[in-house]
Amino acid sequence: MSAAGWSPASWRSFDARQQPPFEDEADVRRVQEQLSMFPPLVTPWEVDRLQTHLAEASLGKRFLLQGGDCAERFDECRPDIIANRLKVLLQMSLVLIYGIRLPVIRVGRFAGQYAKPRSADFEGQNGQRLPTYRGDMVNSPEFGRSERRAAPERMLTAYERSAMTLNYVRALGEGGFADLHHPEYWDLGFVTSDRMREEYQTIVDAILDALRFMEAVSPNPISETDRVQFFTSHEALLLPYEEAFTRPDGRNAYYNLSTHFPWIGKRTNTPDGAHVEYIRGLRNPIGLKVGPDQSPGDLVKVLDHIDPDNVPGRVTLITRLGANAIEQSLPRLIDVVSSSGHPVLWICDPMHGNTLTLDNGLKTRRFEHILAELEQAFDIHHACGSILGGVHLELTGENVTECTGGARGLGEDDLLEAYESQVDPRLNAEQSLELAFSIVRKCRKMRSDLQG
Ligand code: PEP
Ligand code: CO
Repeated sequence: MSAAGWSPASWRSFDARQQPPFEDEADVRRVQEQLSMFPPLVTPWEVDRLQTHLAEASLGKRFLLQGGDCAERFDECRPDIIANRLKVLLQMSLVLIYGIRLPVIRVGRFAGQYAKPRSADFEGQNGQRLPTYRGDMVNSPEFGRSERRAAPERMLTAYERSAMTLNYVRALGEGGFADLHHPEYWDLGFVTSDRMREEYQTIVDAILDALRFMEAVSPNPISETDRVQFFTSHEALLLPYEEAFTRPDGRNAYYNLSTHFPWIGKRTNTPDGAHVEYIRGLRNPIGLKVGPDQSPGDLVKVLDHIDPDNVPGRVTLITRLGANAIEQSLPRLIDVVSSSGHPVLWICDPMHGNTLTLDNGLKTRRFEHILAELEQAFDIHHACGSILGGVHLELTGENVTECTGGARGLGEDDLLEAYESQVDPRLNAEQSLELAFSIVRKCRKMRSDLQG
């Protein structure tokens, strides 16, 4: 059964923010028709399984690790980039599983993360004014009239690249690469810190020991140690694309089958907006980004729309408040949401509230701010009797220099060495792994404070 008054296209009678200025609506419709004939990327069974896992995370029985690029790029749909990103997520999850003793839900920001919200509609350079870059699904970042035109056929390419990415992710996760018996496939690449290498090796040795022990004492093979499941997520921003993948299952329940876990960004998270209308009718678990300017009353209105039955695992609130603002805003949000009765999963995105623009125009984030927001999130949830059940990160498996700090002490002057992002700055593989170790340290400290 679908929600009252809702259809995959009912969002069209609402205010749709952040949609590109397509020149010809008929072209968009033609592309949509084509997309709606293609096979979906995920299945309702997988989506339901993820929702069950998220419900467990909201009770502190699992931990959600969600991460990937700010925006995927069409020309970065390459085996090395996909495998390296998977590798760093695998390594982080291993560190977390071992360190906090909880199963980790791995969700990539990939296989569809091609559309971006922007603060400005236009950008000026040398007296010329052109539409801003809105992600590869819409236009191209180069500053030229034809490059910046919103081209509906890019949605077809986005689907194809998403399918290629997910196909490879699934193949890697099915065995060999993701087999726990072979952590050597996930070598530490360019990690330079000896301390981190040692810490990581200790974990890998302990896991191999435990596996061998279990295999020696158990008559049956231990299942699932040779494969790893990854779920996908992206911002459900470009509504014609999302609509084309919104399909009913046998019980007439509608799923967005372009991804397991769509989320709504901070700029489109409004109670009377088209994005909230679209997403309320989906069976998928839903993420909502929550910024420091979020009105708590509006947040509860959105929750009432999308979670009228108070279903565990249905909504994940992804707070992105900033290291300076979290102390001020998070307690009130937790208080209002818990009084509303919606059993949400809380996770922390310590990236988007901590973006700085340097004098040379580069956007960056400092590792210490990212860590500071995350540590405060753990403390504040604990103090409010709530649970922080996961993290949402922008990261890559490549050796980029986009965020400062971390084990190698990257400074602002080092950023131009390998700055590749067209949008937000990402943690590189070494910084990502370091963050996973920091989360473990924080959780262990909280546990020992509790016991002591
Ligand atoms: C993002 O996740 O890349 C993003 C734009 O986030 P937010 O909506 O939280 O600003
Ligand atoms: Co971003």
